[in-house]
Amino acid sequence: MLKIGFLGGGNMARAIAGGLAAGGMEVEVSVLDRHPEKLEVLAKAYGAQPQTSVGPWISALDLVVLAVKPQGLKEMCEAAADFLSPSATVLSIAAAVPAASIARWIKTPRVVRALPNTPAMAGKGFTGLFAGDNATEEDRQRAEAVMQCVGELRWVIRESDLHLVTAGPGSGPAYVFLFMEALADALQDEGLDAAAAREFALSTVEGAAALARQSGEAFSVLRENVTSKGGTTAKALEAFEAHGLRGAVKAAVEACRARSEEMSKLFS
Ligand SMILES: NC(=O)c1ccc[n+]([C@@H]2O[C@H](COP(=O)([O-])OP(=O)(O)OC[C@H]3O[C@@H](n4cnc5c(N)ncnc54)[C@H](OP(=O)(O)O)[C@@H]3O)[C@@H](O)[C@H]2O)c1
Repeated sequence: MLKIGFLGGGNMARAIAGGLAAGGMEVEVSVLDRHPEKLEVLAKAYGAQPQTSVGPWISALDLVVLAVKPQGLKEMCEAAADFLSPSATVLSIAAAVPAASIARWIKTPRVVRALPNTPAMAGKGFTGLFAGDNATEEDRQRAEAVMQCVGELRWVIRESDLHLVTAGPGSGPAYVFLFMEALADALQDEGLDAAAAREFALSTVEGAAALARQSGEAFSVLRENVTSKGGTTAKALEAFEAHGLRGAVKAAVEACRARSEEMSKLFS
């Protein structure tokens, strides 16, 4: 049975522990956090063993999941380094912190980075994975087994591609929420009540994503399939183009990627 320890028991640790429990994977889970109420929730919901400080319990772990904010990661790694088993895998879910920095702080080369997104909390996440230079096949397998419990995943070859995971699926749910918010607001401006506007926007996004997934067609083909010349959808799409939707999305992705690169330099 895989022994997994989360260092940090916040939102992401809860999502992954929930995914592990729902997936029925044979694991023994411990969680370290400084907030007793968070530990209690995880213990009650998933039988996680609560820990309030680093200590010898860490030496029994096969997989250590680093689940604190990037600002607190160095301190956490240095504290855990004294207890870490050489056969353990370290899986960092912290955004922006390079694998080499983590390996240096926690004193093991067996580091894998994962960038999950918030839909992981609903079991519909997407995780970008990157194996550090000296991670083993066992490290990759352990990381994959855990992250697949919260949704889809994809390995990237270059660590720099994780910036694009951040600019795409990482921050992407917020882009989609913004679109849904704008669509619901526009429908309300046209006279619809708030509950109906929310449902219209939500079902639109859910349905379009499900159809795209099922058909496997290019997004442009799917768009053309629902657009008759001179029809209603054509008019709406003309308005999107005239107001620069593509340019806005491109600028947003570039800005997000640049910020991610800038942040990772702070932790190199
Ligand atoms: N949320 C996301 O969408 C998302 C997506 C991808 C990746 N991530 C990454 O996942 C990591 C965790 O994110 P999160 O949203 O789960 O964060 P979070 O909710 O803040 O959880 C971290 C928990 O660890 C505790 N903690 C920090 N340092 C500690 C220490 N030295 N000893 C004991 N407890 C400590 C924190 O307490 P305090 O609050 O008191 O510090 C907090 O309860 C981050 O690195 C983030 O970059 C998050």
